[in-house]
Amino acid sequence: MTTTTASPTAAPLLAWYDRHHRDLPWRISPPMAARGIRPDPYHIWLSEVMLQQTTVPAVKAYFAKFLARWPTVGDLAAAPTDDVMAAWAGLGYYARARNLKKCAEAVASEHGGRFPDTEEGLRALPGIGDYTAAAVAAIAFNRQAAVMDGNVERVISRLYAISAPLPAAKPLMKQKVALLTPADRPGDFAQAMMDLGATICTPKRPACALCPFNDACEALAAHDPEQFPVKAAKKEKPVRQGAAFVAVNRDGEIYLRRRVASGLLGGMTEVPTTGWTARIDGETGMDAAPFPADWQMAGTVTHVFTHFELRLSIYRARVTSTGDGNDGWWEPVTNLEAQALPTVMKKAIAQAIPNAFAKTGAFIEASA
Ligand code: ADE
Repeated sequence: MTTTTASPTAAPLLAWYDRHHRDLPWRISPPMAARGIRPDPYHIWLSEVMLQQTTVPAVKAYFAKFLARWPTVGDLAAAPTDDVMAAWAGLGYYARARNLKKCAEAVASEHGGRFPDTEEGLRALPGIGDYTAAAVAAIAFNRQAAVMDGNVERVISRLYAISAPLPAAKPLMKQKVALLTPADRPGDFAQAMMDLGATICTPKRPACALCPFNDACEALAAHDPEQFPVKAAKKEKPVRQGAAFVAVNRDGEIYLRRRVASGLLGGMTEVPTTGWTARIDGETGMDAAPFPADWQMAGTVTHVFTHFELRLSIYRARVTSTGDGNDGWWEPVTNLEAQALPTVMKKAIAQAIPNAFAKTGAFIEASA
């Protein structure tokens, strides 16, 4: 089909952003930015790393918690890793928390507490990849860096009706973003693209009538924005299974262990579990209980990791002896929030003790 569209430029998007930007705790609003006020690079870096894990509403709470506890990158660098892991718990992908700490240490010790102000300088820091380097360079330092996340991929693929499927089409998309990114206000441009993707150019039923690109959008001209971005068919995730054991003693304490430092959820806190196996004859049962007790089946929980889906059978027991267990510790159920418990473990505990997280209750949404 032949369609006629105007060539896209950044100007209408920036005008839209001036009126409709989202107020976010780490963001400097366009009028302030126009007066030369720049955001704190520490805030931008922290929020961008968190935003790779979860949604804006969930990040707001974690961001506030981190800043209250570690107001500067130097404070974060000096914090015990265990405290950072515990504060990160629930956001998922825990290697990122470990790298967050390492990056803070590098900024504090090798850069005098100041983030490098170029994409290359930022990329040289631990845990900072292409996306974060570009986002921090653009947003914190107003560098003309091409910033592309999932929202931007959707906007750009529609604007240019890119029919090549993701992920192979990423370099082409990035090229288009680079061409569209203006020398003036590149930081606002990057944030505007993300806001547009989050609020107007949504995956389903995009609000094209309100879009500042609606006279330039090739997908709209062809009447079918929703078909973009095209995605390569996804492989089904393999399923693994296992069992987890939630023991509570007479003092209202739960038996916890620390996972080995390396590998998935390395160094995080857990309730005892079997191995997680894809084998039908794998270890999934009572043999892996941490000690003999009157274990009762309490249901199953499912958790989706990047590379597999885990189905855990949950067993619970009330124990009378406080001497049970020799590789973990007994923690008051009222103190679970302070533990470095990954979401899968919180789900397991909540399955066995439904009101264990009654105070906050929000962890499952936060990690969705
Ligand atoms: N998602 C990730 N980073 C963002 C940002 N800086 N602004 C809005 N949405 C985002």
